[in-house]
Amino acid sequence: QEDLFKNVVSHAKEYGFIFPSSEIYDGLSAVYDYAQNGVELKKNIREYWWKSMVQLHDNIVGLDAAILMHPTTWKASGHVDAFNDPLIDNKDSKKRYRADVLIEDYAEKLHQKAQKEIEKARARYGDAFNEEEFVSTNARVAEYKARQRQILERMAASLGNNDLDDVKTLIEELEIADPDTGSRNWTEVRQFNLMFGTKLGASAENAMDLYLRPETAQGIFVNFLNVQKSSRMKIPFGIAQTGKAFRNEIVARQFIFRMREFEQMEMQFFVRPGEEMKWYEYWKQTRLNWHLSLGLGAGNYRFHDHEKLAHYANAAADIEFNFPFGFKELEGIHSRTDFDLKAHEEYSGKKMQYFDPELNENYTPYVVETSVGLDRMFLAVFSNSLKEETLEDGSVRTVLRLPSVLAPTKAAVLPLVKKDGLPEIAQQIVSDLKWDFNVAYDEKDAVGRRYRRQDALGTPFCITVDHQTLEDSTVTLRHRDSMAQDRVSIASLKEIINNEVSM
Ligand code: GAP
Repeated sequence: QEDLFKNVVSHAKEYGFIFPSSEIYDGLSAVYDYAQNGVELKKNIREYWWKSMVQLHDNIVGLDAAILMHPTTWKASGHVDAFNDPLIDNKDSKKRYRADVLIEDYAEKLHQKAQKEIEKARARYGDAFNEEEFVSTNARVAEYKARQRQILERMAASLGNNDLDDVKTLIEELEIADPDTGSRNWTEVRQFNLMFGTKLGASAENAMDLYLRPETAQGIFVNFLNVQKSSRMKIPFGIAQTGKAFRNEIVARQFIFRMREFEQMEMQFFVRPGEEMKWYEYWKQTRLNWHLSLGLGAGNYRFHDHEKLAHYANAAADIEFNFPFGFKELEGIHSRTDFDLKAHEEYSGKKMQYFDPELNENYTPYVVETSVGLDRMFLAVFSNSLKEETLEDGSVRTVLRLPSVLAPTKAAVLPLVKKDGLPEIAQQIVSDLKWDFNVAYDEKDAVGRRYRRQDALGTPFCITVDHQTLEDSTVTLRHRDSMAQDRVSIASLKEIINNEVSM
């Protein structure tokens, strides 16, 4: 698992997906740049989300609000007062950690132990194995699961009551050690606000303190009535937005999993008060189905219903993904009540109500939110797709089995040799296809090596132009995953590729 994660980071760099930010100055911690292939993969994930959320829903529209917002926004939203992480320093190593992450990691280890027992039993009993029955009757597994739940519940309660001493006591009781040094010499637990501040205006006296937005959602809330009135949408309806968010994360680790500058894809769905739980369940399932549609394997997802609720929510769940370092949050679905709209009403003095023509009454809508990190989606897709395969002849190939719809380049066109007019035909194919897809041209090295290079980039198709092409206008179409090769006409290429890669 650890090796896989190292491979993910080095593959992302070597093949032009992700570079550390300002690397010539030794980088900036938890900030990354998307390179020539990364930017395409990221764009495709964003478009896949946008299409499913905005284009395919008559009652959801898009928005692109500014990153900088009036500072009162963040008073109203609660972020100035309550957007904190509990942090703890190790006195010996001087390293800083999020206290809740240390505890969650401990709880995750118990989960892994339970899974190990389950897998052992599955191997022993084969087809006769019934997981549900095993989990309910095996004392050891029951103990692991109960312990995991207890620990998370106690942490949630302490953080909910802002009882930081109890968080520290829990860390001591569990004998959690510094992941890097093994030392248990901790400081007190403190709260730390995660917002990045900046200033608007040139002169020091007149400058206005601003924040870089820590979530895109507030841009949607403050525009709720503008959008509703100009679109004449009726409740229930949604507003969707993708864009950068910034958090001064204490622990920067795990590559692009937790960044200081990242991108969110969020949708706020406005509903009648009292109907929020129905929509909450609807969006939980709809969003899980969206993830499943990418084909990364249903077993890699699970729901985690929150015991500890954020200041604005009356129900919340994460969709967790099986990252190389275990199951972690990928997306959040939150029932945010009327907290945000009411707060903005109070702070701005402007009504944020909706007139419901069917009920013939005014009310402040309730909100169900779906929020997924684009970079986290990238990491999920990328790490799940990276495989080392041993082939029949014993050689090993590295292949990035990306879902074809997301692949940065859809096809590479390769002349078998650099003469006899083959490069010209290959270039002509590129010119024809490039209006519809990203295509690459490659004539360097033996064709086998060129196939390997495209495998490592996740390109679903290679199109090879050879001497037979001169006679009958056919080419070899090689499929990335099966490595099967078909002979097809040049004229049919567009349709074949389109069938596989269109969203
Ligand atoms: N508007 C609600 C909200 O922001 P959140 O759970 O704090 O909720 C939503 O964030 C999603 O944004 C997370 O599920 C995660 O995918 C992503 N995210 C949050 N913090 C992140 C970070 N520091 N780096 C990368 N992605 C992050």
